[in-house]
Amino acid sequence: MRAVDIIIKKRDGGTLTPEEIEFFIMGFVRGEIPDYQVAAWAMAVYFQGMTPEETAHLTLVMAHSGDVLDLSPVAPQAVDKHSTGGVGDKTSLVVVPLVAAAGLPVAKMSGRGLGFTGGTLDKLESIPGFRTGLSIDEFLEQVRRVGCVIAGQTADLAPADGKLYALRDVTGTVPSIPLIASSIMSKKIAAGARNIVLDVKVGLGAFMPTLEKAQELARLMVDIAHHTGRRAIALLADMNQPLGRMVGNALEVKEAIATLQGQGPRDFLEHSLEVAGYMLYLGQAAETPQAGRDLAQKVLESGQAWEKFKAMVQAQGGDVRAVEDPSRLPAAPVQTVVEAPRAGYIAQVHARRVGEVVMRLGAGRAKKGDPVDPAVGVEVHVKVGDRVETGQPLFTIHARREADAEQARQALLAALQWSEAPVPPLPLFYGVVE
Ligand code: URA
Repeated sequence: MRAVDIIIKKRDGGTLTPEEIEFFIMGFVRGEIPDYQVAAWAMAVYFQGMTPEETAHLTLVMAHSGDVLDLSPVAPQAVDKHSTGGVGDKTSLVVVPLVAAAGLPVAKMSGRGLGFTGGTLDKLESIPGFRTGLSIDEFLEQVRRVGCVIAGQTADLAPADGKLYALRDVTGTVPSIPLIASSIMSKKIAAGARNIVLDVKVGLGAFMPTLEKAQELARLMVDIAHHTGRRAIALLADMNQPLGRMVGNALEVKEAIATLQGQGPRDFLEHSLEVAGYMLYLGQAAETPQAGRDLAQKVLESGQAWEKFKAMVQAQGGDVRAVEDPSRLPAAPVQTVVEAPRAGYIAQVHARRVGEVVMRLGAGRAKKGDPVDPAVGVEVHVKVGDRVETGQPLFTIHARREADAEQARQALLAALQWSEAPVPPLPLFYGVVE
């Protein structure tokens, strides 16, 4: 077999056999097939697509390119969740301890922010001392002892995806539905999940700009899960505007803490309860998603989820005093309020543009390995549909320098669209794929 023939076959719209996929991907992982051939192949996949069978094979080959965790001895019903990435999406910080407090273990491997999207690991690391680089033994031990863990993916899990993702990121081949589906599902399979809730984002701040594309991605991931003996459900969630109010690492931790204490913003609370409800349903701790949601709400209101969050922080070396008193979390020296220059209804708060502002303030990274600033970010005071009067606060910018804040101010105003007439609020969800 030759790599070039596999590239040509895909370029011309052919369907690759499982043997060809394995030869190509494992050759890449072993360093026998060079980056430029894999980049050409990824571009061919981007234009020609893959059949569901090809995508399932690609997923399995990537999942088995390294270690595959077996969670069954520590947590046979463990449930996992994955978001396709968004702006202000701090859902894992709330639902992981919430579901664990309801009695279902959660062993979650998360990622870092890239481009305009935030990453759970960067957020958690704004808690002083919090360790996300756990060994597999530490990871499993914490699931057993605490009931939940959020850590970075070790290099030994799905290494093919790590290599391929880095290449896609610099060759314009990230937004390919089969490549995204296989990337996400290979990591979930390697991390040992048997029950997976997928939070598929739709809209201006998501990889999938339209509902149709998001449905296609969701269906493909759910089918891959079933093909490989897992259970999965995908929720199609709005990502036209940021989720909640806070965007930025420590700011999002503060909002997650407020939510766990029953004082979070309505949209983020609703989103978290819905995701947690489906996790409890899929993990058989509730008979229906609605019963799961009710259970999640009860556990949140009882304070048990907040206690579980603190136990997780402590187990991972984080300073519990900093989460009990969030004024101890990193804070930016410059805080500037952006006031409304006019009156009207908010018609758009462009999620990607807000994410880009936050990244430029220093909270995100332009390329892999860049450091992030935990303190900076943006508080978004308005939602689509709000009526706003002149002078009302629209955003609070948290910046290192005055000049950064001024630049952010202009860009944030440009992220808004106004309407003279009332605008309906955006829905939180657009549907479920089972
Ligand atoms: N998240 C992933 O893990 N992989 C992708 O390809 C896109 C989003």
